[in-house]
Amino acid sequence: MDLVSPEFLDHFMNPRNHGTIEDPDGTGMGGSPECEDWLLLTIRIEDGRIADIRFQCRGCSAAIATSSATTVLAKDLTIEEAELLSADEIEKAVGGLSEDKRHCSLLGEEALKDAINDYMGRK
Ligand code: FES
Repeated sequence: MDLVSPEFLDHFMNPRNHGTIEDPDGTGMGGSPECEDWLLLTIRIEDGRIADIRFQCRGCSAAIATSSATTVLAKDLTIEEAELLSADEIEKAVGGLSEDKRHCSLLGEEALKDAINDYMGRK
């Protein structure tokens, strides 16, 4: 069994911002070709900031923990700041991941960029 951090366990056992926003300003998907897991993010933008963000995911415990962490990190960021949120930062927010689970944090980065692109395309 993998050893996981208290931050990881907290996000996995009590995921933040789960669900979807009705009529969102942007929708983004992230997917892992390695395992076919996915993350769907919906965002609400107000005054150039992420005012609300929700996630749904099909994936392993690391996917759930990092998806939750992605929403916490992204909330209240400006669009420009959110575009720069990296998988490394997401991984750090859950106290690190084992080598075989590092790809799971890519879902958050990918889905957030995709949601922002969707928002920018709708403007
Ligand atoms: S093993 Fe698929 S996202 Fe973690």
